[in-house]
Amino acid sequence: MKDLPKIELHLHHEGAAPPAFIRGLAKEKGVDLSGIFREDGSYAYRDFWHFLSVYEAATSVLQTPEDYARLTRAVLEESAENGVIYSETFLSPDFCGGGDVDAWRDYLHAIRETAEAAERDLGITLRGIVTCIRHFGPDRAKPIAECAAETAGDWLVGFGMAGDEMKGKPGDFLWAFDCAREAGLRITVHAGEWGGAASVRDALDALNPERIGHGVQAIEDLALVDRLAEDGIVLECCPGSNVTLGVFPSWRAHPIEKLRARGVKVTVSTDDPPFFHTTMTAEYENLARSFDWDEGVFAEIARTSLDAAFCDAATKEKIAKKLGD
Ligand code: ADE
Ligand code: ZN
Repeated sequence: MKDLPKIELHLHHEGAAPPAFIRGLAKEKGVDLSGIFREDGSYAYRDFWHFLSVYEAATSVLQTPEDYARLTRAVLEESAENGVIYSETFLSPDFCGGGDVDAWRDYLHAIRETAEAAERDLGITLRGIVTCIRHFGPDRAKPIAECAAETAGDWLVGFGMAGDEMKGKPGDFLWAFDCAREAGLRITVHAGEWGGAASVRDALDALNPERIGHGVQAIEDLALVDRLAEDGIVLECCPGSNVTLGVFPSWRAHPIEKLRARGVKVTVSTDDPPFFHTTMTAEYENLARSFDWDEGVFAEIARTSLDAAFCDAATKEKIAKKLGD
Protein backbone atom coordinates (compact mmCIF):
# COMPACT_ATOMS: atom_id res chain seq x y z
CA MET A 1 0.00 0.00 0.00
CA LYS A 2 2.81 2.36 0.88
CA ASP A 3 4.30 2.16 -2.60
CA LEU A 4 1.08 2.69 -4.58
CA PRO A 5 1.34 6.13 -6.23
CA LYS A 6 -1.11 8.46 -4.52
CA ILE A 7 -2.60 11.89 -5.15
CA GLU A 8 -3.82 13.96 -2.23
CA LEU A 9 -6.13 16.94 -2.79
CA HIS A 10 -7.17 17.86 0.77
CA LEU A 11 -4.41 18.59 3.24
CA HIS A 12 -4.19 21.51 5.68
CA HIS A 13 -0.59 22.71 5.84
CA GLU A 14 -0.56 23.51 9.57
CA GLY A 15 -2.77 20.48 10.26
CA ALA A 16 -0.04 18.28 8.79
CA ALA A 17 2.56 19.56 11.28
CA PRO A 18 4.00 16.70 13.32
CA PRO A 19 3.43 17.40 17.05
CA ALA A 20 7.17 17.02 17.78
CA PHE A 21 7.88 19.71 15.16
CA ILE A 22 5.42 22.12 16.84
CA ARG A 23 6.84 21.29 20.30
CA GLY A 24 10.35 22.03 18.99
CA LEU A 25 9.30 25.42 17.60
CA ALA A 26 7.45 26.26 20.83
CA LYS A 27 10.62 25.54 22.81
CA GLU A 28 12.76 27.65 20.45
CA LYS A 29 10.36 30.58 20.80
CA GLY A 30 9.67 30.17 24.51
CA VAL A 31 5.93 29.59 24.01
CA ASP A 32 4.11 27.32 26.48
CA LEU A 33 1.95 24.91 24.47
CA SER A 34 1.92 22.11 27.06
CA GLY A 35 -1.89 22.19 27.26
CA ILE A 36 -2.38 21.00 23.68
CA PHE A 37 -0.46 17.72 23.96
CA ARG A 38 -1.27 14.39 25.58
CA GLU A 39 1.32 12.59 27.66
CA ASP A 40 2.23 10.40 24.69
CA GLY A 41 3.11 13.58 22.74
CA SER A 42 0.12 13.56 20.39
CA TYR A 43 -2.30 16.48 19.99
CA ALA A 44 -5.04 16.59 22.66
CA TYR A 45 -8.59 17.68 21.80
CA ARG A 46 -12.09 16.67 22.87
CA ASP A 47 -14.15 17.20 19.73
CA PHE A 48 -14.14 19.00 16.37
CA TRP A 49 -14.61 22.48 17.84
CA HIS A 50 -11.87 21.96 20.40
CA PHE A 51 -9.71 20.54 17.59
CA LEU A 52 -10.08 23.86 15.71
CA SER A 53 -8.82 25.80 18.74
CA VAL A 54 -5.92 23.38 19.38
CA TYR A 55 -5.05 23.71 15.67
CA GLU A 56 -4.92 27.50 16.01
CA ALA A 57 -2.82 27.26 19.20
CA ALA A 58 -0.31 24.93 17.46
CA THR A 59 -0.21 27.32 14.50
CA SER A 60 0.69 30.25 16.78
CA VAL A 61 4.35 29.11 16.87
CA LEU A 62 4.59 29.22 13.05
CA GLN A 63 5.63 32.87 12.93
CA THR A 64 7.99 33.41 9.98
CA PRO A 65 8.46 32.34 6.35
CA GLU A 66 11.44 30.25 7.55
CA ASP A 67 9.13 28.38 9.99
CA TYR A 68 6.81 27.61 7.06
CA ALA A 69 9.76 26.48 4.93
CA ARG A 70 10.74 23.99 7.64
CA LEU A 71 7.13 22.88 8.02
CA THR A 72 6.84 22.37 4.27
CA ARG A 73 9.90 20.13 4.22
CA ALA A 74 8.56 18.03 7.12
CA VAL A 75 5.12 17.68 5.50
CA LEU A 76 6.51 16.70 2.10
CA GLU A 77 8.92 14.14 3.57
CA GLU A 78 6.00 12.43 5.34
CA SER A 79 3.80 12.54 2.22
CA ALA A 80 6.53 11.21 -0.08
CA GLU A 81 7.25 8.44 2.44
CA ASN A 82 3.62 7.34 1.97
CA GLY A 83 3.76 7.21 -1.81
CA VAL A 84 2.19 10.61 -2.50
CA ILE A 85 3.43 11.93 -5.85
CA TYR A 86 1.18 15.00 -6.12
CA SER A 87 -0.43 17.01 -3.35
CA GLU A 88 -2.48 20.18 -2.97
CA THR A 89 -2.16 21.94 0.35
CA PHE A 90 -4.42 24.49 2.03
CA LEU A 91 -2.58 27.68 2.98
CA SER A 92 -4.14 30.50 4.97
CA PRO A 93 -2.76 34.04 4.72
CA ASP A 94 -4.57 34.53 8.07
CA PHE A 95 -1.71 32.54 9.62
CA CYS A 96 0.92 33.61 7.05
CA GLY A 97 1.20 37.37 7.47
CA GLY A 98 -2.27 38.16 8.85
CA GLY A 99 -3.78 39.04 5.46
CA ASP A 100 -1.07 41.53 4.41
CA VAL A 101 -0.23 40.88 0.75
CA ASP A 102 3.49 41.69 0.96
CA ALA A 103 3.98 39.49 4.02
CA TRP A 104 1.98 36.71 2.33
CA ARG A 105 4.26 36.90 -0.73
CA ASP A 106 7.25 36.21 1.54
CA TYR A 107 5.58 33.18 3.11
CA LEU A 108 4.47 31.86 -0.26
CA HIS A 109 7.96 32.30 -1.70
CA ALA A 110 9.50 30.31 1.18
CA ILE A 111 6.92 27.51 0.88
CA ARG A 112 7.24 27.33 -2.89
CA GLU A 113 11.04 27.32 -2.87
CA THR A 114 11.05 24.46 -0.35
CA ALA A 115 8.46 22.56 -2.42
CA GLU A 116 10.57 22.93 -5.56
CA ALA A 117 13.63 21.54 -3.77
CA ALA A 118 11.52 18.63 -2.47
CA GLU A 119 10.25 17.95 -5.98
CA ARG A 120 13.86 17.56 -7.11
CA ASP A 121 15.01 15.27 -4.31
CA LEU A 122 11.82 13.51 -3.12
CA GLY A 123 9.87 13.35 -6.39
CA ILE A 124 6.70 14.90 -4.95
CA THR A 125 4.91 17.82 -6.61
CA LEU A 126 3.05 20.36 -4.47
CA ARG A 127 0.53 23.08 -5.37
CA GLY A 128 -1.22 25.56 -3.08
CA ILE A 129 -4.85 26.46 -2.41
CA VAL A 130 -5.52 29.57 -0.34
CA THR A 131 -8.29 29.01 2.18
CA CYS A 132 -10.27 31.55 4.11
CA ILE A 133 -11.62 30.40 7.46
CA ARG A 134 -15.37 30.40 7.86
CA HIS A 135 -15.54 31.08 11.59
CA PHE A 136 -13.29 34.14 11.16
CA GLY A 137 -16.17 35.68 9.19
CA PRO A 138 -16.69 37.20 5.71
CA ASP A 139 -14.86 40.48 6.40
CA ARG A 140 -11.63 38.65 7.24
CA ALA A 141 -12.10 36.54 4.08
CA LYS A 142 -11.84 39.60 1.79
CA PRO A 143 -8.12 40.43 2.30
CA ILE A 144 -7.41 36.68 2.21
CA ALA A 145 -9.04 36.45 -1.23
CA GLU A 146 -7.04 39.52 -2.32
CA CYS A 147 -3.82 37.80 -1.20
CA ALA A 148 -4.87 34.76 -3.25
CA ALA A 149 -5.80 36.83 -6.31
CA GLU A 150 -2.50 38.77 -6.20
CA THR A 151 -0.47 35.54 -6.21
CA ALA A 152 -2.66 33.34 -8.43
CA GLY A 153 -0.74 31.45 -11.09
CA ASP A 154 0.94 28.20 -11.94
CA TRP A 155 1.70 27.31 -8.30
CA LEU A 156 -1.12 28.93 -6.35
CA VAL A 157 -4.00 27.25 -8.15
CA GLY A 158 -7.13 27.38 -5.98
CA PHE A 159 -9.21 29.14 -3.39
CA GLY A 160 -11.32 27.51 -0.73
CA MET A 161 -12.91 27.78 2.68
CA ALA A 162 -12.22 25.69 5.78
CA GLY A 163 -13.24 26.14 9.41
CA ASP A 164 -16.53 25.75 11.24
CA GLU A 165 -19.26 25.19 8.67
CA MET A 166 -21.95 25.69 11.35
CA LYS A 167 -21.02 29.42 11.39
CA GLY A 168 -22.46 31.84 8.83
CA LYS A 169 -23.66 30.97 5.34
CA PRO A 170 -21.60 30.26 2.20
CA GLY A 171 -23.32 33.16 0.42
CA ASP A 172 -21.81 35.57 2.99
CA PHE A 173 -18.43 34.82 1.37
CA LEU A 174 -19.49 35.50 -2.22
CA TRP A 175 -17.30 38.61 -2.59
CA ALA A 176 -14.19 36.64 -1.61
CA PHE A 177 -15.01 33.75 -3.94
CA ASP A 178 -15.82 36.06 -6.86
CA CYS A 179 -12.52 37.89 -6.31
CA ALA A 180 -10.59 34.59 -6.36
CA ARG A 181 -12.49 33.19 -9.34
CA GLU A 182 -11.89 36.35 -11.37
CA ALA A 183 -8.16 35.86 -10.77
CA GLY A 184 -8.41 32.42 -12.38
CA LEU A 185 -8.39 30.36 -9.18
CA ARG A 186 -10.34 27.11 -9.06
CA ILE A 187 -12.82 26.65 -6.23
CA THR A 188 -13.32 24.11 -3.43
CA VAL A 189 -15.42 24.56 -0.28
CA HIS A 190 -15.58 22.57 2.97
CA ALA A 191 -19.20 21.46 3.46
CA GLY A 192 -21.09 18.40 4.59
CA GLU A 193 -18.53 17.35 7.18
CA TRP A 194 -20.76 18.49 10.06
CA GLY A 195 -23.56 20.51 8.47
CA GLY A 196 -25.56 17.75 6.80
CA ALA A 197 -26.74 17.56 3.20
CA ALA A 198 -28.25 21.06 3.40
CA SER A 199 -24.80 22.53 3.98
CA VAL A 200 -23.51 20.88 0.77
CA ARG A 201 -26.51 22.19 -1.17
CA ASP A 202 -25.95 25.72 0.21
CA ALA A 203 -22.27 25.66 -0.77
CA LEU A 204 -23.07 24.45 -4.30
CA ASP A 205 -25.88 26.96 -4.82
CA ALA A 206 -24.03 29.96 -3.38
CA LEU A 207 -20.43 29.42 -4.51
CA ASN A 208 -20.53 26.97 -7.45
CA PRO A 209 -17.39 25.01 -6.47
CA GLU A 210 -15.86 22.26 -8.62
CA ARG A 211 -14.89 20.30 -5.54
CA ILE A 212 -16.32 19.95 -2.05
CA GLY A 213 -14.13 19.34 0.99
CA HIS A 214 -15.68 16.27 2.67
CA GLY A 215 -19.27 16.52 1.32
CA VAL A 216 -19.92 13.06 2.72
CA GLN A 217 -23.09 13.99 4.62
CA ALA A 218 -24.70 14.40 1.20
CA ILE A 219 -25.49 10.70 1.66
CA GLU A 220 -28.54 11.77 3.74
CA ASP A 221 -30.20 13.08 0.56
CA LEU A 222 -30.07 10.81 -2.50
CA ALA A 223 -31.37 13.54 -4.83
CA LEU A 224 -28.32 15.59 -3.83
CA VAL A 225 -26.05 12.58 -4.35
CA ASP A 226 -27.45 12.27 -7.88
CA ARG A 227 -26.86 16.00 -8.46
CA LEU A 228 -23.21 15.58 -7.39
CA ALA A 229 -22.83 12.63 -9.77
CA GLU A 230 -24.55 14.37 -12.70
CA ASP A 231 -22.63 17.61 -12.28
CA GLY A 232 -19.31 15.81 -11.81
CA ILE A 233 -18.64 17.50 -8.46
CA VAL A 234 -15.58 15.92 -6.86
CA LEU A 235 -15.65 15.04 -3.16
CA GLU A 236 -12.38 15.36 -1.24
CA CYS A 237 -13.17 12.53 1.19
CA CYS A 238 -11.09 12.17 4.35
CA PRO A 239 -12.52 9.04 5.94
CA GLY A 240 -9.91 8.66 8.70
CA SER A 241 -10.56 12.26 9.79
CA ASN A 242 -14.33 11.66 9.82
CA VAL A 243 -14.08 8.42 11.81
CA THR A 244 -11.63 9.87 14.36
CA LEU A 245 -13.79 12.98 14.88
CA GLY A 246 -16.95 10.86 15.20
CA VAL A 247 -18.78 12.04 12.07
CA PHE A 248 -19.36 8.29 11.39
CA PRO A 249 -19.09 5.60 14.05
CA SER A 250 -16.73 3.29 12.12
CA TRP A 251 -14.88 2.80 8.86
CA ARG A 252 -17.58 0.39 7.64
CA ALA A 253 -20.20 3.08 8.31
CA HIS A 254 -18.38 5.68 6.19
CA PRO A 255 -20.39 6.48 3.00
CA ILE A 256 -17.43 6.75 0.58
CA GLU A 257 -18.21 3.41 -1.10
CA LYS A 258 -21.96 4.15 -1.35
CA LEU A 259 -21.19 7.52 -2.94
CA ARG A 260 -18.76 5.94 -5.39
CA ALA A 261 -21.23 3.17 -6.28
CA ARG A 262 -23.86 5.82 -7.09
CA GLY A 263 -21.50 7.56 -9.50
CA VAL A 264 -20.03 10.36 -7.41
CA LYS A 265 -16.38 11.22 -8.09
CA VAL A 266 -14.68 10.47 -4.78
CA THR A 267 -11.04 11.03 -3.85
CA VAL A 268 -9.07 10.16 -0.69
CA SER A 269 -7.06 12.49 1.57
CA THR A 270 -5.85 12.77 5.16
CA ASP A 271 -7.06 16.31 6.12
CA ASP A 272 -4.80 16.86 9.19
CA PRO A 273 -2.90 13.57 9.42
CA PRO A 274 -1.09 13.74 12.81
CA PHE A 275 -4.21 15.13 14.51
CA PHE A 276 -6.18 12.11 13.28
CA HIS A 277 -3.38 9.55 13.63
CA THR A 278 -3.48 8.80 9.94
CA THR A 279 -1.35 8.73 6.78
CA MET A 280 -2.28 8.15 3.13
CA THR A 281 -1.04 4.57 3.54
CA ALA A 282 -3.32 4.06 6.57
CA GLU A 283 -6.28 5.52 4.62
CA TYR A 284 -5.65 3.05 1.79
CA GLU A 285 -5.25 0.11 4.19
CA ASN A 286 -8.49 0.94 6.00
CA LEU A 287 -10.38 1.36 2.72
CA ALA A 288 -9.06 -1.98 1.41
CA ARG A 289 -10.06 -3.72 4.65
CA SER A 290 -13.46 -2.05 5.00
CA PHE A 291 -14.70 -2.11 1.40
CA ASP A 292 -12.52 -4.70 -0.34
CA TRP A 293 -10.97 -1.99 -2.49
CA ASP A 294 -8.21 -3.47 -4.64
CA GLU A 295 -5.46 -1.98 -6.78
CA GLY A 296 -7.96 -1.40 -9.62
CA VAL A 297 -10.13 0.81 -7.39
CA PHE A 298 -7.11 2.70 -6.07
CA ALA A 299 -5.91 3.29 -9.65
CA GLU A 300 -9.38 4.67 -10.50
CA ILE A 301 -9.24 6.94 -7.41
CA ALA A 302 -5.80 8.23 -8.44
CA ARG A 303 -7.03 8.99 -11.96
CA THR A 304 -10.16 10.77 -10.65
CA SER A 305 -7.91 12.79 -8.32
CA LEU A 306 -5.52 13.79 -11.09
CA ASP A 307 -8.45 14.86 -13.33
CA ALA A 308 -9.77 16.96 -10.43
CA ALA A 309 -6.40 18.49 -9.55
CA PHE A 310 -6.19 22.26 -10.05
CA CYS A 311 -2.70 22.26 -11.63
CA ASP A 312 -2.06 22.96 -15.32
CA ALA A 313 -2.11 20.41 -18.15
CA ALA A 314 1.68 20.06 -18.41
CA THR A 315 1.90 19.16 -14.70
CA LYS A 316 -0.96 16.67 -15.07
CA GLU A 317 0.81 15.01 -17.99
CA LYS A 318 3.97 14.61 -15.92
CA ILE A 319 2.05 13.11 -12.99
CA ALA A 320 0.01 10.85 -15.31
CA LYS A 321 3.26 9.27 -16.52
CA LYS A 322 4.18 8.45 -12.92
CA LEU A 323 0.76 6.80 -12.49
CA GLY A 324 1.63 4.62 -15.48
CA ASP A 325 -1.00 6.14 -17.81
N1 ADE B 1 -9.39 23.03 9.28
C1 ADE B 1 -8.50 22.05 9.46
N2 ADE B 1 -9.11 20.85 9.41
C2 ADE B 1 -10.42 21.07 9.19
C3 ADE B 1 -11.56 20.26 9.05
N3 ADE B 1 -11.50 18.92 9.11
N4 ADE B 1 -12.75 20.84 8.85
C4 ADE B 1 -12.84 22.18 8.79
N5 ADE B 1 -11.81 22.99 8.91
C5 ADE B 1 -10.60 22.45 9.11
ZN1 ZN C 1 -10.27 19.95 5.75
